[in-house]
Amino acid sequence: MTDRGHSRRNFLQLTGAGLAATPWLAACAQAQASIPRQAIGRPWPNWGSLPETPPPPPKAGSIGVAVVGLGGYAIGKAMPALATAERTHVAAVVSGNPEKAAKVAAAYGLPDDAIYSYDTFSKIADDDRIEAVYIVLPTGLHADWTEYAFAAGKHVICEKPMALTPAECERMIAASRGAGRKLMIAYRCHFEPVNLKATELMRQGVVGKIQTIETANNYRVGKETPADNWRLAKALAGGGPLEDYGLYGLQVALYLSGELPVSVQGWTEQPKGDPRFSEVFSTVKTELHFPSGAVANLMTSYDADTLNMSNVYGEAGKLLMQPANGYAGNTLTLVRDGSSEVLTPGDSGVQFAQMCAHFADAIREGVAIRTPGEMGLRDIRLVDAIYRSAASGEPVNL
Ligand SMILES: NC(=O)c1ccc[n+]([C@@H]2O[C@H](COP(=O)([O-])OP(=O)(O)OC[C@H]3O[C@@H](n4cnc5c(N)ncnc54)[C@H](OP(=O)(O)O)[C@@H]3O)[C@@H](O)[C@H]2O)c1
Repeated sequence: MTDRGHSRRNFLQLTGAGLAATPWLAACAQAQASIPRQAIGRPWPNWGSLPETPPPPPKAGSIGVAVVGLGGYAIGKAMPALATAERTHVAAVVSGNPEKAAKVAAAYGLPDDAIYSYDTFSKIADDDRIEAVYIVLPTGLHADWTEYAFAAGKHVICEKPMALTPAECERMIAASRGAGRKLMIAYRCHFEPVNLKATELMRQGVVGKIQTIETANNYRVGKETPADNWRLAKALAGGGPLEDYGLYGLQVALYLSGELPVSVQGWTEQPKGDPRFSEVFSTVKTELHFPSGAVANLMTSYDADTLNMSNVYGEAGKLLMQPANGYAGNTLTLVRDGSSEVLTPGDSGVQFAQMCAHFADAIREGVAIRTPGEMGLRDIRLVDAIYRSAASGEPVNL
């Protein structure tokens, strides 16, 4: 599976005629320099809302967290979670957009001196209100800003994917050790009741020996280019959907099988002439082979109808999750012995605050981090192997 190829688009691209004639393509041509791999302020995100009233003052012992990068996920999920969790609170914001930062800070009841820019970030070292930093920047900025946070003496929770390359992940882990501070990757599904229940059931062997795992993490990107959307810019997003949405399917295959693959094979698609995919892949398909003989087939795409499912097929039944990795409403169905049972282990919405509470437990009580930097590194190594396989056309043994 390589380029799907649209012959007219290919022709336009080859002759250059399309570049002159189509504003969409022209925008794409300008895009590559227009999102630099450095922290810059961006406009108000297209989702995420602010609390109507500021959260109550933090309780004694609560961990003050500086949130770096005020995009959709920071405003929509990370900040509400920090404010809701038992022992964390938002203590500062770090942003390249001063107006947005002021508005967000006001909504969280933060004073003006708790607003930092990317240029003043290092001053957080002297701010005792801040014990930890939550990195919610595009992926290509995770490694540097994690290192800056450790240099300032703070603990770090970093959004997934951990970084663009295994080498960057290793740098982050080394910086954590050097600073003697915690590093956690914000893999929220490890705190989500449906995923936790599914993992428990698999450990109990409810479907017998696993034969196949299938996952899909797909949606269709609109008419955007790398200039509008960092997820389409290679310097900030790597290969695209696999690191972003597809990472959930990869993780599901690992925690539901309870195994690590012995070989991987990957296939990438990058349709020529489509400005959305001038820099990243549109689709990545992966086959993982596990020591037990189980096989996982993973699909992730920025150019397919929305689908988020994880299914496990065993010799004695099947486990079906759809959606599997959502913010809310994940479902779990167990089919065996000719009957089907819908399980309701809890509200998916608790995952964000549970994750922040776990981060606090790690800092305060020394609890072992469930999703440490080493897990992030493991996953980026697998992503790297998948891309190597796709490039060579051969499976990669691990
Ligand atoms: N766990 C999940 O379910 C989940 C879901 C979505 C996203 N995420 C992760 O969260 C992180 C942020 O994603 P997002 O969806 O929130 O992105 P986003 O809405 O585009 O926001 C990213 C923010 O990063 C800052 N930024 C600094 N330099 C930038 C640059 N060169 N290009 C673009 N933005 C830059 C900007 O904040 P300022 O304007 O304040 O400077 C921007 O608003 C990523 O690591 C992503 O993978 C995780």
